[in-house]
Amino acid sequence: MGFVNLLTMAKRFSGIIAILLLLRLTTAAASHEFCDAGMGYNVVGCGGSDSSSRRILIKGGTVVNAHHQEVADVYIDDGIIADVKPNIKVGDEVAVIDATGKFVMPGGIDPHTHLEMEFMGTDSTETIDDFFSGQAAALAGGTTMHIDFVMPVNGSLSLGFKAYVEKAKKSCMDYGFHMTITKWDDTVAREMEIMVKEKGINSFKFFLAYKGIVMINDELLLEGLKKCKSLGALAMVHAENGDAVFEGQKRMIELGITGPEGHALSRPPLLEAEATARAIRLAGFINTPLYIVHVMSIDAMEEIAKARKLGQRVVGEPVVSGLVLNDSGLWDPDFNIAAKFVMSPPIRAPGHGRALQAAVSMGVLQLVGTDHCTFNSTQKAFGIDDFRKIPNGVNGIEERMHLVWDTMVASGKISVTDYVRITSTECARIFNIYPKKGAILPGSDADIIILNPNSSFQISSNSHHSRSDTNVYEGWIGKGKVEITIVGGRIVWENNELKVNLGSGKYIKMPPFNYLFDGIEKADVSYISSLRAPVNRFKAMQ
Ligand code: URP
Ligand code: ZN
Ligand code: ZN
Repeated sequence: MGFVNLLTMAKRFSGIIAILLLLRLTTAAASHEFCDAGMGYNVVGCGGSDSSSRRILIKGGTVVNAHHQEVADVYIDDGIIADVKPNIKVGDEVAVIDATGKFVMPGGIDPHTHLEMEFMGTDSTETIDDFFSGQAAALAGGTTMHIDFVMPVNGSLSLGFKAYVEKAKKSCMDYGFHMTITKWDDTVAREMEIMVKEKGINSFKFFLAYKGIVMINDELLLEGLKKCKSLGALAMVHAENGDAVFEGQKRMIELGITGPEGHALSRPPLLEAEATARAIRLAGFINTPLYIVHVMSIDAMEEIAKARKLGQRVVGEPVVSGLVLNDSGLWDPDFNIAAKFVMSPPIRAPGHGRALQAAVSMGVLQLVGTDHCTFNSTQKAFGIDDFRKIPNGVNGIEERMHLVWDTMVASGKISVTDYVRITSTECARIFNIYPKKGAILPGSDADIIILNPNSSFQISSNSHHSRSDTNVYEGWIGKGKVEITIVGGRIVWENNELKVNLGSGKYIKMPPFNYLFDGIEKADVSYISSLRAPVNRFKAMQ
C-alpha cells in the first residue's frame, strides 16, 4: 500500500491511537518507498536499523565557535555534546574520529528554504526538493538544520501548519518553521497567537512583491508588525515594490523582451531599495525588530546599513546566490541555462555580490541563507515564452557552506570564527535556539561538521543530492571540503557517502522574544513621555 493511500486511510480514523499506529506504519512504508525509488542515498531505516555508535570522540581538531577557537577534543554521547577540552580519554566502545588539521564546527543552519512548496500557480510548480531530498542535500553540504517557510492554505495559518507537519515527516535532520502571512482578519491575528504560543513559530514573513499571488499592502504590513511586536515574533519581509515590478514586467513585454533577461530588467535594484526602506521605516514607526530576507543589491544593503547606524534593530540576510553569482547567466542564449538563474529579487550585475560580501564581513549584514527553492528545467520551461511564468527560485542548501568558505574564508575576507557566526550561530541566536544549536559547547545538540581546508569541492548537477536536474553553481571548484557531517550524534556524511535516517529529523520549537526585543518597551516609554501631549487646555469662557 502506498504512502498516500495510507494517509487517506488514516484521515478516515478519528481515534488518536489509530492514527498514531498508522503513522508508524506510514513511516515504514515511506522509507521502503524511498528505498524502492533508488534515490541513491543509503537510507538507514529501509528495513535495517541504525547501528551507528551513540558515542563519538572527535580528536585533535580545531574546534570553532563564533566567539572562540582552540585545538580540543569533542565528546558526543547520545546525540548531545558531553565535553569539549583537550585530551579527553575514552574507552574502546567509543568511535574515534581523527580531526587533526581540520576544523570542527557547528553544523550550518539555513534560515531560508522552501521545500515542497506550491508557488506561482499550480501543483505542477511545487518545488522539486521535499523535506527528504532537500535535507539529504543539506547534510551532504554541511547544513544540519534549516528553517522553512510555511505557506498558509487559503489564508489559514493552522491549515498551512498542519500541511507542513505532514510534509516534514520525511525529515532526516532538525528543522523549524517561519509562517507566511498573505491576508489579514481577526482569525489570522488569533492564529498568529496560536502559532507563537503553542506551535513554536517565532517569525512571520510578509511579501511586498508577487502582486496577485501573495503580495500584501502597507495596511496589512502595519497590522502584522503590530501583532508581531505584541507576540515577540520577528517580522520578516521580501522587499520589492510589487506594484512597480508589475509595471516593469508590462514594460518589458511591450518592448518584446520575453526571455529570462526580462526578469532582471523588470525589477531593478531601486525597487528592492524602495521596499526595503519602506519596510524599515514602518518597522521603526511601530518600534519592532525587522528581518530583511534575501538582500540582493547594494541599494537595499545601504538602506539596512543606514538604519542600523541610527540604532534601528534591522537584520539583513543575503543569500549565497546573491553573494557569489552575477546576472550574466540570465542573458545566456540557451533558455534552460538562463531560466535556472531566475529568482526574486534577481541576481544582480557584477559588483553587487562583492559589496554584499563586504557588508557581511563588516557585520552590516548578519547571516547568510540560501532561499533554496528548486524547480527543474521542465518546470522552468513553463515560462519559455514569457519570463513572468518562470517559477522563481534557485538551489543552494547543499552548496552554501562550501561557497561561503571558498569565497570568504579561503580568500581571507573573514575569519573562521566569523564563518561560524554567519552560517550558524547568528541564525540560532536570532531564532532563539542558541546554544542548543549553533555552538560546540557541552549540552549543545551534536550537529557538527568537520571541514578540511586543504581539500577541494566541485559542484555539478550530476553529483549533487538535490532532485533538480540543474545547478546554478555548475562547474564551481573551490577550496575547503566538508568531509564529515554529524547530525544528532550520528555520522550521516562521510567518504562522500550519505547515510540518512528517514523520519529522524525533529521539529525544533522556537520561543518568542529573542535578543532583538530586549529593551524595546523602554523605547516605547521614552517615546510616550517625549510627546508632551495631550495638552491640557483651558476651555474658553463663553
Ligand atoms: O525567487 C525566489 N526567491 N523564490 C522563493 C520565494 C521567495 O521569494 O522567497
Ligand atoms: Zn522572497
Ligand atoms: Zn524565499
